[in-house]
Amino acid sequence: MARCTAPSAPRFEHHDGSVLGIGAGAPRLSWTIDDAEPGFAQTAYEVEVTRAETTRVFPVEASDQVLVPWPAEPLVSREEAAVRVRVRDAVDWSPWGATSTVEAGLLSPADWAASFISPRTLAALETAAPVVRGRFDLPAAAVGRLRLTAHGVYEARLNGHRVGDEVLAPGWTSYSHRLRYQTHDITDLLREGSNELEVVLGNGWFRGRLGFLGERGLYGDRLALLAQLEVTDAHGELHVVGTDDSWTAAESGVLADDLYDGQRTDLRRPMWGSESAADVVDVVPVDLGVLVAPDGPPVRVTQVVPAVQVLRSPSGATILDFGQVLVGWVRLRVRGLAAGAEVLVRHAEVLEDGELGVRPLRTARATDTYLVAGGGEEILEPGLTFHGFRYAEVSGAGEVRGEDAEAVVIGSDLQRTGWFSCSDPMLARFHDNVVWGLRGNTVDVPTDCPQRDERLGWTGDLQVFSPTAAFLFNVGGFLTSWLADLSADQLPDGSVPYVIPDVLHDPAPTAAAWGDAAAVVPWVLHERTGDTGILARQLASMRAWVDRLDALAGESHLWAGGFQFGDWLDPSAPPDDPFAAKTAPDVVATAHLIRSADLVAQVASTLGEDAVAGHYRVVAAAARSAFGREYVTPGGRLLSDAPTAYAMALQWDLLPTPEQRVGAQRRLADLVRASGFHIDTGFVGTPLVTDALVGGGDVDVAYRLLLQTSCPSWLYPVTMGATTVWERWDSLLPDGSINPGEMTSFNHYALGAVADWLHRVVAGLAPTAPGYRRILVEPRPHAALTSARARHLTPYGETSVAWERDGDVLNVEVTVPVGAGATVRLPGLDEQTVGHGRHRWQVPDPCRVEEHRTPRTIRDVLDDPAIWTEVVNATAAVGVAADETAIAKRLTPFFDDPAAELVERLFAHGPRDGYGTLTKQLQPLLTP
Ligand code: BGC
Repeated sequence: MARCTAPSAPRFEHHDGSVLGIGAGAPRLSWTIDDAEPGFAQTAYEVEVTRAETTRVFPVEASDQVLVPWPAEPLVSREEAAVRVRVRDAVDWSPWGATSTVEAGLLSPADWAASFISPRTLAALETAAPVVRGRFDLPAAAVGRLRLTAHGVYEARLNGHRVGDEVLAPGWTSYSHRLRYQTHDITDLLREGSNELEVVLGNGWFRGRLGFLGERGLYGDRLALLAQLEVTDAHGELHVVGTDDSWTAAESGVLADDLYDGQRTDLRRPMWGSESAADVVDVVPVDLGVLVAPDGPPVRVTQVVPAVQVLRSPSGATILDFGQVLVGWVRLRVRGLAAGAEVLVRHAEVLEDGELGVRPLRTARATDTYLVAGGGEEILEPGLTFHGFRYAEVSGAGEVRGEDAEAVVIGSDLQRTGWFSCSDPMLARFHDNVVWGLRGNTVDVPTDCPQRDERLGWTGDLQVFSPTAAFLFNVGGFLTSWLADLSADQLPDGSVPYVIPDVLHDPAPTAAAWGDAAAVVPWVLHERTGDTGILARQLASMRAWVDRLDALAGESHLWAGGFQFGDWLDPSAPPDDPFAAKTAPDVVATAHLIRSADLVAQVASTLGEDAVAGHYRVVAAAARSAFGREYVTPGGRLLSDAPTAYAMALQWDLLPTPEQRVGAQRRLADLVRASGFHIDTGFVGTPLVTDALVGGGDVDVAYRLLLQTSCPSWLYPVTMGATTVWERWDSLLPDGSINPGEMTSFNHYALGAVADWLHRVVAGLAPTAPGYRRILVEPRPHAALTSARARHLTPYGETSVAWERDGDVLNVEVTVPVGAGATVRLPGLDEQTVGHGRHRWQVPDPCRVEEHRTPRTIRDVLDDPAIWTEVVNATAAVGVAADETAIAKRLTPFFDDPAAELVERLFAHGPRDGYGTLTKQLQPLLTP
């Protein structure tokens, strides 16, 4: 009797289902098992591979089910295989699972018969987007494949029908090293006899503007197309036609297109070009060795959002509000306009004084223009650009009704895998904002922001956000591709460009927390997806980065001096100086050297490379003792007396003695109190500070920081109506004006990195073995919440933790997928280990409100939210200090003093107006 359900249809590499045109001849396989009897454990599996009508079964004695090796001969180019799996435990076999198919792409440059072609005279910069056209006779197709790529971005149609549903293909990679091609199934679009393929080429990342220096054409000045049609006829014979010098080109109706500036379209012209103005094409030399198949999903339209209101601005402009900051473009229906009338759509993420707030876009024009055909109804929609926006100002279209406009959301079509919910609506909204931030910043490359003249693959932003990303979406293939670009663009000396793909070309890019993405991101992928292959692939790159840092540190083992971004955007840095953080860049730098050396050692030992592991352990140890000597006092104070410094030191084990650890923990909590529970960290410290607090037992302080709503805090943007995470803690100032800094995005994921802590610690769902094969369930309930829940589709299947406080009890429900196990730590219970299935516990609620206790010290006053709120309100009312932060600052030197002396301390230096009132009001709360 089968003791488990049939395994799922296998997945190949990090792809979600069946795959066409995979780049690996021996794709690794994964499956999930929906349900099994208690105690079931897979001990063996069989993979059945059917290719060219031959079926073979490969038995393997192993408990693995995630990214297991391809058991058969590798696939050859174009070869298809149908694969299914069954598994066995000690007792019996499961039924066979469903089948999925995998078809190899072109695995060798020699498989390409086509050549890159480029219009000879058309398609210069500043001219209309070209359409490249080919006609050919083909036999009736049993199977048809079209493989396509471009210098630029393309949209193709075959015999008048759009090919595929991809947007901005082939996406953005480090083109000179890696250029993706896509494989489409065109069997149903082909005709016996004459066929016509038309492809419009936009500038995209290849030739459009890129970066804040105003540059264009960074990869070349000629757009080009590579297309290969492959038809297998009824007799199994393969017919191949591809781009060559017999193709022609014409101008499309797209007069101008740019990712930053927008698209200008003349709807009076034939969109797919006029034959009468045909141009010849040149074959252009391109190394076909750079062609690679996609590792992850393409960019697609992922959602369509209706306009929620039509606003009239003070200046009289018509502004559409889509209710959500998103990424894509506007689809607009117009009617009855005169031929040639110009309709303009401008975009922005925020309004300022009721008008479109375009200053944050800097030089990106983000404007789509249409010259309409006139007369009847027309749909206006670009396709060779994208914008980051919530609002769109429309002019020239007459009266615009909400129902005539939609926002078309685009992005890499990543499978959603993670959810979080909780009883606090603001925190839940914050989490939604994190999800939207990720969606907007995964348009093929993990970017800093999607709207201004930047949109680059900033390494630091991803370094801090990658754990959150890996929980929320299946980013396995997406980041595998990005890491391949990172390795490709890494400098020979190991330096890692600030942005990947590198378009900044700094000659010596070494910045802590940014370049460390080389070490951190592969590790995160391994931890979250169970992929060990990625470690093997990236090890050389990781080592080169750490070797570079080790060389920079030299004999002192301290990485000091030189350019650093440091704890970028520390909230106390002035708007025009985001570098001005409280934590010294040198402290940030050596801390990162140690952390990355630790990671490389761990990776090497995972891969069984013990000598390599040993070497990096030595590098880390030397830097650790130098750090301890140089930056830590015997009592555990740090050279930079700032939360980021303590958070790094605590999280990365940089404090030599237990006493120093305790001292640092105490100091970190006091610094958070001293800021009145406001965030006081930039990009580096933000993902660490709540973990560091909880590690020191200061769960309450961590929650106070998390749930703060005044500026700066995670929830302040939510109070201001944010629908995404902002670049700055105060991108929008409390008075509703836009931060005056020249870098003010309203869609930046980095500061949303705390979401990983929401999943792991607030809800309590964390991986402790690669791919969540072992899960740590350790929720940290808090009085401020009545419930929280996290759910994640791990490579093994669905897991979740939900807790709810109900009366005197805490109810906890946990789901563990088949193949995984969990360690469960709940308040009042001994640690337990459980297997797959659903588990429930009821324990005493650890957050029961204790009966009122008079605070002993001033620190206790801050730690009691109710009393502290009264202190803040009363103190602000008499005008002693303006707000929570100022009051906390005043009291900081006196945290250890008796609570009864609080009022006295508030007036320590300065006029005593209000002393009497405050004493009367507060003293009863502060004295027993
Ligand atoms: C980007 C950041 C990036 C930074 C470098 C900015 O312009 O938007 O997110 O990491 O530069 O510090």
